[in-house]
Amino acid sequence: MGWNSWNQFRCQIDEKLVHEMADALVARGLGAVGYQYVILDDCWQAPERGPDGGIRPDPIRFPNGMRSLSDYIHSKGLKFGIYTSVGKRTCQGRPGSWDHEDQDAQTYADWGVDFVKDDFCGGPIYRWISWNYRPHYVRMSEALLRTGRPIVFSLCNWGWDSVWKWGASIANLWRTTMDISPHWRSVLRILDHQRGKEPFSGPGHWNDPDMLEVGVSPLTETESRSHFSLWAMLAAPLIAGNDLRTMTPETTAILTNPEVIAVDQDQAGKQGFLISSWAGLQVWAKPLAEPETFAVVLLNRKNKSARVTVRWNSLGLPAGSASVRDLWKRIELGSYPDEFSAEVFPHGVVMVKVTPTSGPLSVN
Ligand code: GLA
Repeated sequence: MGWNSWNQFRCQIDEKLVHEMADALVARGLGAVGYQYVILDDCWQAPERGPDGGIRPDPIRFPNGMRSLSDYIHSKGLKFGIYTSVGKRTCQGRPGSWDHEDQDAQTYADWGVDFVKDDFCGGPIYRWISWNYRPHYVRMSEALLRTGRPIVFSLCNWGWDSVWKWGASIANLWRTTMDISPHWRSVLRILDHQRGKEPFSGPGHWNDPDMLEVGVSPLTETESRSHFSLWAMLAAPLIAGNDLRTMTPETTAILTNPEVIAVDQDQAGKQGFLISSWAGLQVWAKPLAEPETFAVVLLNRKNKSARVTVRWNSLGLPAGSASVRDLWKRIELGSYPDEFSAEVFPHGVVMVKVTPTSGPLSVN
């Protein structure tokens, strides 16, 4: 869990912004509920490498250098993440790590970096499908390990080559799709792409459906709540991408809901899956570590309110009643025999936790 500069700020990043964001992350309560990593995305680098071939920060935007920024982030009890690309150039044309993997990994370790995102731009002929990039991801992964510093490795090849099938051997997380944008259709498109990838995700090695657009315009508050709920169901890395300094109380409440975060961070580490879908109304379920307990999202993808139902037998639960807790209202809704249904707002969700309360209803 953490924050990344890209979704809101693109290349408009500098030292002051990152300091302010680390401050806001703590002040607005995100640190207390588990957000840890402050990650600089593309554009932190100087346009060219130094005379020794070393990667350098942009001297105008980061005049005090990366070690000082890292120390500041660590002084707040947070961790420091940085971005690079597997090719010769990053997506914004800064130097990439191609043939500099060892040197860069050591530089990052010397700066006290805790997380490296390795993007997919800058291949030698810039046609990513036809260049042999995979050994370079392996080289970076091994180079980071060789530094001896524990560094999370975030592989970002936009889901090419069924990365979920091999990502776990070299990375802690891997992007499963192209970039997210702050629009409902983008959230749904990425959600749909996660189906079938459930078995590949688990503790220490995660499918990454991309960073959060919660609180990023024009995604609405309802859509942000749905997006956050669904990413929690997917056991996704929760990397906020909004301006933490100016976010509304509603956005803060979404990002810090402890019960939804608990679903994301559940110890079993299982990725949730779709259990029913009809005319834009869906039920998603995530088995939790507690036996026979599920998080369930009733999702209305459409533009009109609608009633959505989850049946206990579709969760594989024994016949009988189950207690239902609303994770957004944060109240117990009571005990329900066989099923639970709720009216769901357009583009909204109802998110509940379902726990069986009785054995089979066999007494006549
Ligand atoms: C790619 C990545 C994004 C972001 C940009 C930065 O598009 O997928 O997440 O890092 O590059 O240029």
